Amino acid sequence: MKTQVIDLSREFDRGVALGGRLLSAGKLVAFPTETVYGLGANGLDPEAVKSIFAAKGRPMDNPLILHVSQKEEADSLCIVSGEARRLMEAFWPGPLTMVLPKRPHIPGAVTAGLSTVAVRMPSHEGARALIAAAGCPIAAPSANLSGKPSPTRAEHVLEDMDGKIPLILDGGSCDWGLESTVLSLSGPEPVILRPGAVTPEMIAEVLGSASVAQSVLTPLKEGETVLSPGMKYKHYAPRAEVILADGEGDALAETAAALYDRLAAQGKKTLILGSRQTCRFYGRRNCVIMGDRTDPKSICSVLFSFLRQADADGYDAVVLEALPPQALGLAFMNRALRAAGFRVEHGAGREVKGSATGGMIEK
Ligand code: TXA
Ligand code: MG
Repeated sequence: MKTQVIDLSREFDRGVALGGRLLSAGKLVAFPTETVYGLGANGLDPEAVKSIFAAKGRPMDNPLILHVSQKEEADSLCIVSGEARRLMEAFWPGPLTMVLPKRPHIPGAVTAGLSTVAVRMPSHEGARALIAAAGCPIAAPSANLSGKPSPTRAEHVLEDMDGKIPLILDGGSCDWGLESTVLSLSGPEPVILRPGAVTPEMIAEVLGSASVAQSVLTPLKEGETVLSPGMKYKHYAPRAEVILADGEGDALAETAAALYDRLAAQGKKTLILGSRQTCRFYGRRNCVIMGDRTDPKSICSVLFSFLRQADADGYDAVVLEALPPQALGLAFMNRALRAAGFRVEHGAGREVKGSATGGMIEK
């Protein structure tokens, strides 16, 4: 299959119209959102949904998010509680996914047989226009091969999906660069299953409190039951080995530099993913500046693309600077820990497991 790429900045109407036609014909279309690129299919067509799993190599027991173009559409897919409605008013359109009791007609292929369904209304104009053109809710995981870092540019999607899908809509770089917050509202209390740009603090502001699942910053134990099936799989990992360096100020840079030297001494071509504040400490070591530590968004938005770039540049090992696991930093650390297979080197000053983990955030 030939994969066509349409640049939405130049051909918005043609791209959206063709995308909508392909989706209603049961085909897959990759599209930009404000978080990461999605791999979409008609969410009410079980055969189309199954082809998403085949294209990604995704385990069938990992459920998908249904994307809508208007808030009211959620009512036809799930039972929207009062809490959910308040969160929709506060954060939709935007990077918040809510897990709610599903309506009977939602295909089991979407929910992996669960009684709940995840719904989200993206704020990206191209994404919303595409969903409206398709005329149905769009089931869409991130548009990467299963296990790899999520795509934040159309080139990343092409890398993973070339020849497998008919169309990629190119909307440039994604704004947040990390996937949406996933919040379960179907249990006895709201629980953040995956942190994102809508932070625990922001959710607590609306609901009074919000708890964060233990597994957000810790590996699952053997036999442990999972609230979100996606949490048990290897994730966000480039080919290169990734190790996190944690600490504050000089201790962080010293830890990262020592780690670099150890890896380099093993003959590994090594790269430090550093920051504006630390890079000058690394001297002649290979280092790129991801962003500014006082502006976590600048770092989050490029994490996945820098991990992919490290592979493209042939690095064997990546030393990744940790961020404090609060607010957006919690979303960063959730991805970074998985990319690193939970390997963390601690410098002086701070432990990675902050109070935000497995605990309750009060308003
Ligand atoms: O930002 C995003 O959310 C992107 C864009 C494309 O919208 N999508 C995305 O989808 O990240 P995906 O499939 O890569 O991640 C969805 C996560 C998975 O961890 C999955 O297990 C969880 O949401 N999930 C989906 N349905 C669920 C459900 N009914 N109960 C619990 N977790 C669910
Ligand atoms: Mg994903």
